Amino acid sequence: MRILVAYESRYGATEGIARRIGEVLIQQGLSADVVRARDARSVEGYDAFVIGSAVFIGSWMREAVDFVKRNAPALAARPAWLFSSGPIGDEKVDPRGRDVKESAVPKTIAELQKLLAPRGHAVFFGALDRKKLRLPDSLIMGMPAFAKYDGDFRDWDDITGWAEMVAGELAPVAAASTLEP
Ligand SMILES: Cc1cc2nc3c(=O)[nH]c(=O)nc-3n(C[C@H](O)[C@H](O)[C@H](O)COP(=O)(O)O)c2cc1C
Repeated sequence: MRILVAYESRYGATEGIARRIGEVLIQQGLSADVVRARDARSVEGYDAFVIGSAVFIGSWMREAVDFVKRNAPALAARPAWLFSSGPIGDEKVDPRGRDVKESAVPKTIAELQKLLAPRGHAVFFGALDRKKLRLPDSLIMGMPAFAKYDGDFRDWDDITGWAEMVAGELAPVAAASTLEP
């Protein structure tokens, strides 16, 4: 069973998450390729998909959305999972008392859910290294309200656990495909 982990990342945090997911899938006995979505030439030959993007101003990166739209029929025909990288910060609950991982679900996801009917969508805490920021992100993050956001908030146990769950859901599919003539 071959799985494509396709991601888009501007500063590297999401790439790290995608690579960890790929490692876990391989540790669980599956075959996984981890590829930047804009570089993914073909989705032919893959049995399942994990697709993720960094979130900027409430949306997935355009290249990740384009990848999904370009390949929607093939992706929708196989098991698929989505993940988003963002929010950042130590707070687990937002000012309105909602779980940050729920309030951080980007608006892109509703649109992609209609296209793919994925098996799931996970929000993972991301990372922000202010030294790496380019314009206009550096200006946005220079605003006083965002001054507290700096650091790596990725929760590797959370990411690993989710990837293990994906591998577990694929195990029966992998077993069935080996029985096909
Ligand atoms: C300008 C800017 C805007 C951001 N907007 C959001 C947002 O709307 N929601 C969110 O959850 N995270 C947001 N983030 C945090 C990023 O999603 C997070 O840093 C992510 O892990 C970056 O991934 P990358 O290093 O792969 O590019 C923003 C970060 C920057 C720099």
